[in-house]
Amino acid sequence: HIIDLGAMQILDSRGRPTLSVTVTLAGGATGWAGVPSGASTGAREAVELRDGDSGRYAGAGVTRAAARITGTIFHRLKGRPWYSLADVDQALIELDGTPDKSRLGGNATVGVSMAVARAVAAAHGQQLWEFLSPSTVRPRMPVPHFNMVSGGMHASNQLDFQEFMIAPIGAPSMAEAVRAGVEIYAVLRANLAAAGRPTGQGDDGGFAPDFTRPREVLTALMRAIDDAGYTAARDQVAIALDPAATRFRDADGAYRVAGERLSGPELIELYADLAADFPIWSIEDGMAEDDADGWRRLTERLGERLQLVGDDVFCTNPAVIEQGIAGAVANAALIKVNQAGTVTETLQAMDLCRKHGYARMVSHRSGETVDDFIAELAVATGCGQFKGGAPARGERVIKYNRLMHIAAQRPDLPYGLADR
Ligand code: PGA
Ligand code: ZN
Repeated sequence: HIIDLGAMQILDSRGRPTLSVTVTLAGGATGWAGVPSGASTGAREAVELRDGDSGRYAGAGVTRAAARITGTIFHRLKGRPWYSLADVDQALIELDGTPDKSRLGGNATVGVSMAVARAVAAAHGQQLWEFLSPSTVRPRMPVPHFNMVSGGMHASNQLDFQEFMIAPIGAPSMAEAVRAGVEIYAVLRANLAAAGRPTGQGDDGGFAPDFTRPREVLTALMRAIDDAGYTAARDQVAIALDPAATRFRDADGAYRVAGERLSGPELIELYADLAADFPIWSIEDGMAEDDADGWRRLTERLGERLQLVGDDVFCTNPAVIEQGIAGAVANAALIKVNQAGTVTETLQAMDLCRKHGYARMVSHRSGETVDDFIAELAVATGCGQFKGGAPARGERVIKYNRLMHIAAQRPDLPYGLADR
């Protein structure tokens, strides 16, 4: 039984309003959630309910979403028995009744779903990752993908590609993977400073230097990995990109990179060249979300050599992922709870991917809180990949700290990429 459901407007890491949700069960167990929020959002994500009152927080307030939780949603959930998180999520889906959660707000539904998951785990005396783990998978410690350099919508520099990450795939353990991320990040900062470049950070905590070409960033990353005493290689410290290509595609279909106009096939050849010269192992959103032809070509050209992750193109939506799988789009999916709008739909999306041999990377949003739910989700689902931003800033490191904590408690959990 849910006896209390609370919601209030708090701030995310960008200083924008978001939701804090608390739930209390009849036995006294409680759960909390802080709702993440993206900047470069996909067209088919669950939509956030925002106040739209331009006189307050530039319209970004979430007091209406909070009122949905304490009003409509609490009214539906209170005073009756719930036998599973899936039942609660199903009630939220039915109560909302829209394909994109626009009536209740995906921010409201995901906050309630996450908080309920925590409360039920607590009621069972389980860790959240234990509670979330499907019986068919083996939990494991995921390879962290640390944001090192930011561009696109996450920084005010001239870089078109949104994220340049490093992934310590060959690290012997979670703790050593975090150490590699931290040490390389520190060396990168020092190298940038020595070169007279800005070391301010983008929204995910990666540096936002005044580079314009992807190659300049990759060269700087290679040097930082090397200077920090690590080996830059696809099976050691690998590089991962999230160009977020939807953001640099013109209305006429051309992609704009470092001042040049590229056709879809030319952009694909740029990726092929970069992957030949640098130890890139994964590219997310290499093509725009509405460029079906580009995605098909990209997957055909590079899908054997590289992990190709669909973020905007899939939106953690099981129905959309199913279409993508049928159309041979990408070979992996980014997983964001607030794109789906409930924890159950997130788990369904992950299960669908697993069944079809699509890899999964659990991800933060560029707007985050100190909620570490996604660290638990990544371990629970055994997906082997996690993207949580730079190894710096409280809202990012709390996730990595939680991963280290779980690894310390459970040294029997394997670290590394999952078999596909
Ligand atoms: P977002 O960016 O949270 O701003 O959407 C993250 C991503 O594109 O992966
Ligand atoms: Zn992305």
